[in-house]
Formats: sequence, structure tokens, C-alpha cells
Amino acid sequence: MFDAPFTFSIPLPLPIPSRQDNHIRRRLSSLKGQFLDTAEYKRMLAEEDRLVYEVYEIRRPKVAGELLSGISIVHPGKVGSEFFMTKGHFHTVLDTPEVYYILKGEGFMVMETPEGEACVEPLLPNRVLYVPPRWAHRSVCTSRQDDLVTFFVYPGNAGHDYGTIEEQGFRKLVVDSGGRIEIIDNPRWKK
Ligand code: 6PG
Ligand code: NI
Repeated sequence: MFDAPFTFSIPLPLPIPSRQDNHIRRRLSSLKGQFLDTAEYKRMLAEEDRLVYEVYEIRRPKVAGELLSGISIVHPGKVGSEFFMTKGHFHTVLDTPEVYYILKGEGFMVMETPEGEACVEPLLPNRVLYVPPRWAHRSVCTSRQDDLVTFFVYPGNAGHDYGTIEEQGFRKLVVDSGGRIEIIDNPRWKK
């Protein structure tokens, strides 16, 4: 691992960092139980375990004082009326924030605190989102044809707590209602 300063580039339109340590591919099967329309989820999965999103990580020691960064690419698609999205997570070390810079596409960041306070922010190119400590976060791609591409940075010691979200879901969902994007309450959300 480099200990000297280093640079890397993020070429567009194909935002694969010129230097990356890990490429994660998340398919429909890794989002089991997250989409409201379970029948449609099952039907789609039986047809094909589609690629929903990818992450390119620029790794550093997972310690406080270091910053981890990377590219997140959420592909366009829907399960029923719900748009393709990331699993979403709290950071294991709850008091760790995150910054997102939106490179391409459009969507929303669905966020909530352990107390159930919810916030949904639109994601558009050249916008920067600051996710404060204690807020879980999930990226949602609402474009019909373009990927949602973000560059993210967060503390090395943050970690990922997926279990809480897998258990309770997010309070808000982003859906396509008759061609209009709508933010709705998740009927299955449990505090
Ligand atoms: C992180 C970032 C970000 C996130 C990706 C994929 O903490 O690492 O929030 O890189 O991991 O957007 O989302 P999931 O981690 O929820 O699958
Ligand atoms: Ni995160």
C-alpha cells in the first residue's frame, strides 16, 4: 500500500478509477427482502440475477485517521415500482460521516438515524452530499437509462453495519408512480 501521496483519475463516461484495489458487483440476489414487491422480485430473480450496482474501492488501512474512497455505480432498473438501489448501511462506528460527490446520472440518497429521523436528498451531477455521523445511507438511481455515479470518501475505521437495515429497512422508499418519482413511507418499516 502506497504511503507516499498518490493521485488517480476517474475518467468519464466510464468512471473506473485509474487505480483501484477492489471491484464489488452487487446483484439482485444480494438485495433479498429489500424490495416491497416480493413477487416481482422473485420473478425477476428467476429470470436473471441482474447486476444492480458496482463499487470500486481505493483501499487504505481501516484505521481512524485514514480515509477510504471510491466510486459507486448504481445501474438503471426497477423492481415493481421501486428503483434500483444500494443495500444501504449504517457505519459500524456510528459517529463517522461520509461525503459524496455526484459525477453522473440522477437519483436520491435515502438516509435515517437510529432514532428513525428520515431525510431524502436529490443527487444530481456536480452536487456534493454531506452525510453526517449517525445517518444510514442508501443510493437510489432514478434515471431510466443512465447510471448514477458517485465518488465517496469516509473514515478508515467506519465499517459497514448492513444487518440493521436488512432487519428494519429504510423508513422512506423511492418509487415510480405513473412516470412521476415519489418518496413514500415504507409500509414494512419497523423501528
Ligand atoms: C461506504 C460508502 C459507499 C457504499 C456504496 C455501496 O460506506 O463504503 O457508503 O461506498 O458502500 O455506495 O453501498 P452499500 O455499501 O450499501 O452496498
Ligand atoms: Ni457508507
